[in-house]
Amino acid sequence: MKNEKPDVIKTVDVALGARSYKIEIGTGLLAHAGEKIGALVKGRQAAIVTDSNVGPLYAWTVKQSLEAQGFQVTVITIEAGEASKSWQNAEMILTVLLEKKFHRDACVVALGGGVTGDLAGFVASVYQRGIAFFQIPTSLLAQVDSSVGGKVAVNHALGKNMIGAFYQPKLVLIDMDALQTLEERHWRNGLAEVVKYGVIYDAAFFTYLKQNAADILARKLSVSAEVIAACCRLKAEVVALDETEGGVRAKLNYGHTIGHGLELAGHYNGYLHGEAVAVGMVLAARYAAEKGMCDAGIEGEIRSLLEAFQLPVKADTSLSIDEIMAGMALDKKVQDGQLVFILPEAMGNVTIVKGVLESEIRALLENDYHA
Ligand SMILES: NC(=O)c1ccc[n+]([C@@H]2O[C@H](COP(=O)([O-])OP(=O)(O)OC[C@H]3O[C@@H](n4cnc5c(N)ncnc54)[C@H](O)[C@@H]3O)[C@@H](O)[C@H]2O)c1
Ligand SMILES: [Zn+2]
Repeated sequence: MKNEKPDVIKTVDVALGARSYKIEIGTGLLAHAGEKIGALVKGRQAAIVTDSNVGPLYAWTVKQSLEAQGFQVTVITIEAGEASKSWQNAEMILTVLLEKKFHRDACVVALGGGVTGDLAGFVASVYQRGIAFFQIPTSLLAQVDSSVGGKVAVNHALGKNMIGAFYQPKLVLIDMDALQTLEERHWRNGLAEVVKYGVIYDAAFFTYLKQNAADILARKLSVSAEVIAACCRLKAEVVALDETEGGVRAKLNYGHTIGHGLELAGHYNGYLHGEAVAVGMVLAARYAAEKGMCDAGIEGEIRSLLEAFQLPVKADTSLSIDEIMAGMALDKKVQDGQLVFILPEAMGNVTIVKGVLESEIRALLENDYHA
């Protein structure tokens, strides 16, 4: 076995009363998932939900470690990609759990990126009114964002993430070894959400990212651990304050209003989520500066860090502005026909602004297209 001894480099607590849990960040953790999970549940039935890229690489290791703790393990593999975050797949997995006679004390282990985590978590939240759920995120985006905080969902033809729940995992195991096999584009994709944390909450972290950009791109282990832990800490703090997004948690949606419009306009075949958010963050900062809410320099700072991470900073002009606007209107962040935007006031500080006019955002996009 490659890693005899797991190395937990950092631990972050998510403080949610009876639903509190730990995020363990380290190396060699996959091979010890069984002990950690086994210590937290009574039952000995586990379903590992994974995808067609991650499963062949890592499911065996996790399965073995669970079996060593006496678990009866079922591995369920979905096709990699956003289209798998579907009601049909949720039903398919629920059927397997029923066929295998999974009890209420069984558990679901999500092993993969955000697609796997969101889908597996949703299934765990509804199977027999909820069974134990564990997150083993393997993409950077999942490690810094989607595996923490308990938002689980599947997509509907009429909207992304429209069928879901708030359902917290019992433990998040972040094994950085797994990141070595992540494709370059997906690594950068996760970095967009990393930059977001700096902009919304932590100017010092933003500076750290700037100073360490080369090591971050090179996936240097010590720096990656620092970055992942910082993001998890920030997300955990926000989620502890506002678990169900009644207020401050909405700040995590910085860059996401336009981002979702771009994703939808590209029919999810153009931008990856983080890439769309990168463009959305730049445009939102520009809008805030135009409104006199922040210094114009902030947009430039955000843009140059995103460029250092080789992320897009300008909308793809082949996308129809009408479709981007229609995509934004479908988004959950629209209230009473007006857009809700998260806008920077200063580096590390954003505010929630309601009543942004669609016409203003259309003009912003048109100007960006012609710039
Ligand atoms: N629940 C939340 O709070 C939340 C937050 C942000 C995003 N999301 C959701 O997350 C999803 C996007 O997540 P994602 O970017 O991880 O997508 P993903 O799950 O599709 O993973 C990206 C790609 O990387 C592959 N992959 C993952 N880990 C790998 C590894 N270690 N080695 C090799 N390949 C690997 C996957 O197979 C996939 O092809 C979206 O559905 C989004 O809505 C949820
Ligand atoms: Zn996001």
